Amino acid sequence: EAQVDDYKQRIKALLKEKDACLVAHYYTDAVLQQLADETGGCVSDSLEMARFGNAHPASTLVVAGVKFMGETAKILTPNKRVIMPTIEATCSLDIGCPIDEFSAFCDAHPDHEVVVYANTSAAVKARADWVVTSSIALDVVEYLADQGKKIIWAPDKHLGSYVQRQTGIEMLMWDGACIVHDEFKAKGILDIKKVYPDAAVLVHPESPDSVVEIADAVGSTTQLINAARELPNKQFIVATDNAIFYKMRQAAPGKEFIEAPTGGSGATCRSCAHCPWMAMNGLESVLHALESGQDEIHVDPALITDARKPLQRMLDFSA
Ligand code: 13P
Ligand code: SF4
Repeated sequence: EAQVDDYKQRIKALLKEKDACLVAHYYTDAVLQQLADETGGCVSDSLEMARFGNAHPASTLVVAGVKFMGETAKILTPNKRVIMPTIEATCSLDIGCPIDEFSAFCDAHPDHEVVVYANTSAAVKARADWVVTSSIALDVVEYLADQGKKIIWAPDKHLGSYVQRQTGIEMLMWDGACIVHDEFKAKGILDIKKVYPDAAVLVHPESPDSVVEIADAVGSTTQLINAARELPNKQFIVATDNAIFYKMRQAAPGKEFIEAPTGGSGATCRSCAHCPWMAMNGLESVLHALESGQDEIHVDPALITDARKPLQRMLDFSA
């Protein structure tokens, strides 16, 4: 406890000293989310993180999350220093979509508009026409289909399948998945529902179709927090990273949040419902990044120019 306070004080002083601002994702440790709130930073979903970093006047952004979030911040504001607590923190969707294969896939379908999820490398973004996050994926795909565009979707097959089912629009899809959300199973959730029959089921659309089908609300992390506040239920079974509970409890005090099981048996595997890369972000690593300045994100300037266009389209579309 004393050490936590000491770290927090030192981080607060360094943020001021270095004209830096802490931007954290809902999947990072509660202590970091709290610190971002206390220091005038931002805790949010991936779209809002990009928007906030883009608009904030600080000359340094400390991005607590995973690599694509730091890269997005750097691409949008190349004149800022972007540092990350752990530069190795990546994402299975990013890993599963290497640029050479992806580029060949796009080249094979030149008449398609290329829409990629934010959870991708700078190079993949640079090859895309649009970047989307889960909070605006449906709207962007509908908008493009209204213009008669054919669409390549990458890399998350579950989010892509959800978008297809919701919009009725067929897309050419990449075969990627989030290792955390891919583990939720409908059977396990239905078993837990027998114990909490009045609970609403909240599901992030990176989860398999069978899990999305039994959801009472489906959406990005921000949309799920809003659902926890707005739905009348007192209990919620939550199929997304369990670090989100911190904000859900704040948004809906007095309500109960139950972790959706990641196996088919109804048994909960705690480590499975938390992203191993998000878990690399902690007070100690934030402090170290600020003190050493070592974990700075660099993106090839040529990629910045090309990746900025689809990212800026995303921000403009959601404005
Ligand atoms: P959102 O916060 O945009 O819902 O994305 C979740 C995610 O995949 C972050 O890792
Ligand atoms: Fe990637 Fe999934 Fe981790 Fe998000 S939770 S960073 S999508 S692996």
